[in-house]
Amino acid sequence: MELQKRKIVVIGAGHVGSHAGYALISQGLAEEIVFIDVDRKKAEAQALDLFDATAYLPSRAVVRAGDYGDAADAQLLIVAAGPLPDMSRGQTRMDTLRQTIEIMKDVTEAIRMSGFAGIILSISNPADVVAHYIQHKLNWDPRRILSTSTTLDSARLRRALAEAIGVDQKSITAYALGEHGESQMVPWSVVSIAGKPLAQLREERPDTYGKLDLDAIAAAGRAGGWTILGGKGSTEFGIGASIAEVVRAIFHDEDRILPVSVLLEGQYGQNGVYASVPARLNRHGVADIIELKLAPEEQARFAASCATMDENFKLSLTL
Ligand code: 2OP
Repeated sequence: MELQKRKIVVIGAGHVGSHAGYALISQGLAEEIVFIDVDRKKAEAQALDLFDATAYLPSRAVVRAGDYGDAADAQLLIVAAGPLPDMSRGQTRMDTLRQTIEIMKDVTEAIRMSGFAGIILSISNPADVVAHYIQHKLNWDPRRILSTSTTLDSARLRRALAEAIGVDQKSITAYALGEHGESQMVPWSVVSIAGKPLAQLREERPDTYGKLDLDAIAAAGRAGGWTILGGKGSTEFGIGASIAEVVRAIFHDEDRILPVSVLLEGQYGQNGVYASVPARLNRHGVADIIELKLAPEEQARFAASCATMDENFKLSLTL
């Protein structure tokens, strides 16, 4: 019997794809990574640069450029192709829909023809709508197709909250839900610090926790991407680590719960829309969706975010 290599194909060798590659090899999460890009030279250059790094990394990995034929025996496919929002024109992630869908038409067809039979982790923006588009076009089991989506925004939210309360972000349970974009919302009613509800802490400590400006913290989390994009023209390390976190949950069959974008089929009162919610991830992909009990006004904001994404998903099918 031959042991199977953990092989990942990354479509798009830009900032996100290459940093995903680095996070994955530095954490020893793949034995082989293959980059596919319309710019073959760039894919080869990124692969070579990353392969050089493996000489000094703790675990061995082959990193190379390839084509869709490489997906046939890969377990995971990361879709990271597409433009960044153009901040100089005030573009949101959702405003990049047309350009990304133009690319996704070819990408989905190539995936279908490749013989790939694993799990797709889609990153391209607008993340939730693109994941839905890919799932719809391939018509595969939605448990096999997900997006990191607000895995990243939730990290940014926890960073902002950690700064405000002086508790390490890993001791905070807090999620940004809905869209990886402007309509995302924070269900404050389910935020807890080491298991203690934030609402209770606010009552018990009116002079510290009670004075927190929750709207400002949510806004700082939401604005995180724009601050980084404005400062250096790309975001890459945060998303690279977020991708690695999701991949680890899948490859190590962890049953880990992370906020990711999945197809909602009745959960949260939503049907047929991809949105970010906490989900249990293992080697089958999305094993379970965790339904948090949201306060009525939170439920309404979540529904509004879903409505935006549904509208844009329907638009994507006409492009
Ligand atoms: C991010 O939030 C721009 O979607 C990208 O980092």
